[in-house]
Amino acid sequence: MSETVSIKGGVHRDLAHDSAAKHVTGAADYTDDIAEPIGTLHAYFGTSDVAHARITSVDLAAVRAAPGVVGVLTADDVPGVNDVSPTGRHDEPLFAKDTIEFWGQVVFAVVAESRDEARRAAALAQISYETLAHVTEADEAIAKGYPDVTAPMTLQRGDIAKGQAEAAHRINGQMRIGGQDHMYLEGHIAFAMPGEDDDVVVHCSTQHPSEAQHMVAHVLGVPNNAVVVNVRRMGGGFGGKESQMNQFAAVAALAAKKWNRPVKIRPDRDQDMESTGKRHDFVVDYDVGFADDGRITAVDAQFAARCGWSSDLSGPVTDRALFHADNAYFYPHVRLKSRPMKTNTVSNTAFRGFGGPQGVVGAERMIEEIAYALGKDPLEVRKANFYGDTDRNITPYHQEVEDNVIGRLVDELEQNSDYQARRQTVLDHNAKGGIIRKGISLTPVKFGISFTATWFNQAGALVHVYNDGSIMLNHGGTEMGQGLNTKIAQVVAEAFQVDIDRIKITKTTTEKVPNTSATAASSGTDLNGMAALDACDQIKARLVSWAAEAWGVAEDAVVFVANAVRVGEEEMVFSDFISKAYMARVQLSAAGFYKTPKIHWDREKGQGRPFYYFAYGAAVAEVSVDTLTGEYRVDRADVLHDVGKSLNPVLDKGQVEGAFVQGLGWLTSEELVWDDKGRLRTHAPSTYKIPLAGDIPREFNVKLADWSENRELTIKRSKAVGEPPFMLPICVFEALGMAVASVADYRECPRLDAPATPERVLMAVERLKA
Ligand code: MTE
Ligand code: HPA
Ligand code: MOS
Repeated sequence: MSETVSIKGGVHRDLAHDSAAKHVTGAADYTDDIAEPIGTLHAYFGTSDVAHARITSVDLAAVRAAPGVVGVLTADDVPGVNDVSPTGRHDEPLFAKDTIEFWGQVVFAVVAESRDEARRAAALAQISYETLAHVTEADEAIAKGYPDVTAPMTLQRGDIAKGQAEAAHRINGQMRIGGQDHMYLEGHIAFAMPGEDDDVVVHCSTQHPSEAQHMVAHVLGVPNNAVVVNVRRMGGGFGGKESQMNQFAAVAALAAKKWNRPVKIRPDRDQDMESTGKRHDFVVDYDVGFADDGRITAVDAQFAARCGWSSDLSGPVTDRALFHADNAYFYPHVRLKSRPMKTNTVSNTAFRGFGGPQGVVGAERMIEEIAYALGKDPLEVRKANFYGDTDRNITPYHQEVEDNVIGRLVDELEQNSDYQARRQTVLDHNAKGGIIRKGISLTPVKFGISFTATWFNQAGALVHVYNDGSIMLNHGGTEMGQGLNTKIAQVVAEAFQVDIDRIKITKTTTEKVPNTSATAASSGTDLNGMAALDACDQIKARLVSWAAEAWGVAEDAVVFVANAVRVGEEEMVFSDFISKAYMARVQLSAAGFYKTPKIHWDREKGQGRPFYYFAYGAAVAEVSVDTLTGEYRVDRADVLHDVGKSLNPVLDKGQVEGAFVQGLGWLTSEELVWDDKGRLRTHAPSTYKIPLAGDIPREFNVKLADWSENRELTIKRSKAVGEPPFMLPICVFEALGMAVASVADYRECPRLDAPATPERVLMAVERLKA
């Protein structure tokens, strides 16, 4: 039967973010917009100003005596466990007690009538220390015998010695890759309301409400069911709110229970940047063997990461670096090792790509080395090493690549961006020897989708259909600007064949869906979309079986059509049908559940199928570099990205564009600097340069691969989009390298470290000229 009417807002169509108008008019409610009850108190952290020390005394008398102060909290005030480590390792005290492990570590919290009073009072503490030697860099940590902060991993396949013996050429080198601050618009914040008995409700800017809930319970020493965590939306998370909100949620809840008043905590931007974790910096040591045609025979590499003082998520982050150290390339013989190093710096954490980008940058450096050594176009070397479809398709973790589309993506992009002709123009331009040099590069991305901790790949949803036919949608995912709620509402609209404005999107709360995973690993839509669909299917099944019986028709004669339901010959508007169902006592609510099939992972063996599928993409960038100053600009970038069969192409394109620019910032202008005392000096936008509107490529063409469809049974055959495009701007980084290398006739790989700031570009130019 062909449908002439269709609903507003089903799947596979462009639809604005449900809160777009509210975002731009300021009407969207964030945690700090919740009306504060009279009597609300404000907490602020008092932090260390040394990188590594033994605490000899803590004198908080002046803090307590300051105007407006109600009291202070230290380790001694924790009724449960003084720990907020997300992995249960108990290596992350909420309040430092005996030792300081990094500059900016929380020692106490002060609670006052106003935020301003709390913030001023926090500065009055007198803390004495016996300073200890500190370490800030990962390689320095290895050299000084510092411990791994969590267990390292090794991935191994083939016979590395054999691969190296077969190699016609071998190159080894080292690359340093910088970290990144999340720079979400909305910083960390938590707002706790005490309840009766042990109860407390915490509104918190978090990607992981269940973890905040469990952590608050752990710190308060109460069962999880005493704590409710709510989040309507975040002003960006980017991984920075997967675990880092724990300390804020815990302190707000602790203070709320202690003084039986609502308590809010919101650090200023400097404290947010100093005291919460960032992307891991890496030092990559590689040894790559290859044949005359550029084909890799062996890769032996070590990925050492600056993890900071506690383990946080550094285990899975450094694991994911190894999972992506192949990018889209087949390594016949390979050995990859991680070194998650403890350092006296803030504890680094999840950030878009979760270590994957650092692995991919390492893979691309090896490709560049080969290309320069053989005098080839790096694109030719890339293609020569792509995974095959039926052979050469086993990853270093022994998962078969079954859904390879990288060849097609790269060929299409190469054609459509006119890569070959433009590369020739760039070469001709540089051959004239001017001050402005150009570079062009095309790089691929392959990214594994699923949490590598297999048990996280589960989700729940709760769908209510009210008796007026309006629908309430709740699921375990959180909205941070990525459009998750819109996509899931599209799925529900499609399932019931109703207009999307009939569906109420609600805050995420641990009361409605329990034991959720972080909205992370790009899997928010994959997991929660399926759970929501499961809930809809349960309700629909009940409706169908009731209607078939009530009307005396076969079940397949009950059909959901646009905003109506057809039962045999009769058609009713959806709301009438639902109110009839209610009167007939049909249960109109369901809890849905989903777990990702097929995946398994044995970390000890380094073998399994950690990923359900892969997302792919490719990008080509052209840059101009001023060789007298090192300044540069991106003249043009073209992207072709694979999101399977897109649920919402315009939202997906927004994710691709945003990820590209965020990745561009990571690889070019965003630089974290720690001084010799171990203090982060780049703790505000004045010293830490994120990309601005003017840094966006002058010409920026972003396309989705509209022919793609997920071969796995994901939600409507779509693919995750959140993180994979973050790695696309590696082409900008390599194009900068080409422009730099031109000053020495491309004889040498420029070996730029990341970020390729103008200073670093200029130094590389000077070095190559010399
Ligand atoms: N997009 C916006 N606007 N804001 C964000 O904080 N986080 C990214 C990505 N895109 C983020 C974003 C990260 S790190 C992840 S893992 C995914 O969104 C999470 O959401 P998803 O799983 O729903 O894609
Ligand atoms: N990705 C993102 N977040 C995570 C992961 C992952 O693989 N594992 C645990 N948290
Ligand atoms: Mo994203 S780093 O998995 O929150």
